[in-house]
Amino acid sequence: MIDEVSNEPAESLDSTVHVPVMPSEVLSALDVRPGMIIVDGTLGGGGHSRMIASLVGPTGQVIGVDRDPLAVARTKETLRDLPVHTYAANYADIPEVLAECQIPLVDAILLDLGLSSDQLADRERGFSYLSDGELDLRFDTSTGTPAWMLVEKLSETHLADLIYKYGEERYSRRIARRIIQERQARPIRSARQLATLLRQCVPRSKNHSIDPATRTFQALRIAVNDELKWLEVALRRFPACLKPQGKLVVISFHSLEDRIVKNAFRDDPRLEVVTRKPLRPSDSEVESNNRSRSSRLRVAVRNDRSAEDIFVHAPQPGRR
Ligand SMILES: C[S@@+](CC[C@H](N)C(=O)[O-])C[C@H]1O[C@@H](n2cnc3c(N)ncnc32)[C@H](O)[C@@H]1O
Repeated sequence: MIDEVSNEPAESLDSTVHVPVMPSEVLSALDVRPGMIIVDGTLGGGGHSRMIASLVGPTGQVIGVDRDPLAVARTKETLRDLPVHTYAANYADIPEVLAECQIPLVDAILLDLGLSSDQLADRERGFSYLSDGELDLRFDTSTGTPAWMLVEKLSETHLADLIYKYGEERYSRRIARRIIQERQARPIRSARQLATLLRQCVPRSKNHSIDPATRTFQALRIAVNDELKWLEVALRRFPACLKPQGKLVVISFHSLEDRIVKNAFRDDPRLEVVTRKPLRPSDSEVESNNRSRSSRLRVAVRNDRSAEDIFVHAPQPGRR
């Protein structure tokens, strides 16, 4: 399963064009009530934060975090009348953000993974296949390596492995070979140039629902942002930030992410899994917001046992 985001750019950059997915499911999973403190670890266009903030009210607060400083700057403006405090940070650093706010424990943490329609709309960043801007694909351009550089520098084998591992693309070897040929003739710098090449060497899916470029773009985006690593780190750190009975809600968009969330929830003794199977969007939501169609929402709750109960009094190997 892949993130079937249509990479058509949207129109505006001044206000958000992102439509939050599974809104009612998110609110009921978070069990939002007045006075709560809730962290939105993927603020994006602020759609989820806005809804949550209006329910926690003036006695509560939302801590909105995003790795994309441009998204934070824009969304901070649009949410200024609500009890939302925004931070440009990696969600893996939420414990540090909370320490800075002097908040020891929170009622819930939400992650809505992947990229936003606003990032897709920005033709300078390479997320859209039609973008003539640099193939960058970083959420935060102040760190890491832009995607065009990976495409330029990696060996054929390394490129093929990356596209297979993070894009689950069965034509990865063919694609890597074609990229090497192309880059020997001219540098591959724009998203449009790469997408055109991919369309020439990957067959269209049967019902044309997935663009041939989708899996390779997903792979490069995951690689340049180290998305799976940060998700694993964050899920290990979050339970310690939650009050007893605090909720952890994660929306993922492809099987690589969903597997990490499922395993992290199942294997952490501090958490009880609420959703054995992930919740899916309703047919009517998928009809009105195509982006929601691959979303999967999982919920876990911090159990009441203290860390001491779990880690000190847990049965030791070889002892009864
Ligand atoms: C699907 S959008 C979130 C949309 C948001 N829920 C809304 O309603 O507008 C995902 C966001 O997560 C951000 N993001 C991705 N990885 C991140 C990370 N490791 N830390 C913080 N934000 C991250 C992206 O920059 C993007 O803005």
